[in-house]
Amino acid sequence: MSGPLKDLARTFDRVADAYDEGRPGYPDEVYRAMTEVSGVELDGATAVDVGAGTGIMTRALRARGSRVIAVDPGEPMLAHLVAKSGARGQKPAGGEERAAPVAAVMGDGNALPLTDGVADLVMYAQSWHWLDPAASIAEARRVLRPGGAIVGCWNFNHAAQADWLAAYETRLAEEVPTYYGPAVEEWSVPPIASAFEVVGERWIPWTRLVGIEHFLLDLRSHSYMAALSPERADEVVARRRAELRAAFPEGVLSVPMRVYLAVGR
Ligand SMILES: C[S@@+](CC[C@H](N)C(=O)[O-])C[C@H]1O[C@@H](n2cnc3c(N)ncnc32)[C@H](O)[C@@H]1O
Repeated sequence: MSGPLKDLARTFDRVADAYDEGRPGYPDEVYRAMTEVSGVELDGATAVDVGAGTGIMTRALRARGSRVIAVDPGEPMLAHLVAKSGARGQKPAGGEERAAPVAAVMGDGNALPLTDGVADLVMYAQSWHWLDPAASIAEARRVLRPGGAIVGCWNFNHAAQADWLAAYETRLAEEVPTYYGPAVEEWSVPPIASAFEVVGERWIPWTRLVGIEHFLLDLRSHSYMAALSPERADEVVARRRAELRAAFPEGVLSVPMRVYLAVGR
């Protein structure tokens, strides 16, 4: 792998530990909606998790009975996935022996290292916007079986639902030049719905209860933070910590979130 793809993958490589510890999973309703909209039962399905990262979606699909092929170009991200998911023939920690094994493949979602027609689902969990919009979907269609589905999903802070969260996002937008999120006017969900034949779209609200330090690890795992020097990132985090501790002295946040889910063929 070389060129721009390698550079993109490196963005998350720098924050892989924070990503693994800080990022939230997806609420159960997301998985129910995936099946309802796509018609694909997760139990027994073969799913290709493209841009699998540290394996948040990989493990959730596996826990629901899917055989998962996890694909990502970032070695540090995949290392977390392998360690936690029992990939490449290892048994996962935590006694999940009955779950199907996970295959972890270092590769490019724009040129999947898979044969045609192997998958019931091609999943992009917070990842499709990092890929080439046309090449990725062409590849997804190539590896899908007839009746299979392509799923994109993204977890967002729902800033409009809480004044403190809106203020938090606004301060990030002011301080971090590469910030991209709900506080910038041109922000929108990744346009996957215009890249495939849409079967259905859903917005799924949920609430994340999280400690301040955990929430700040999540902040560090965003690509716009990874673009800062370590010193600058520390300063931004320290300011957010002070503000959040002052506003929530008990140290726990109730964060309004929402998942955008798009299913297509
Ligand atoms: C925001 S993370 C998403 C990780 C995980 N799916 C999740 O739900 O948290 C985006 C991932 O996309 C990966 N990625 C970037 N370019 C890619 C490409 N061309 N093909 C496959 N994955 C890619 C990155 O390495 C990173 O792990």
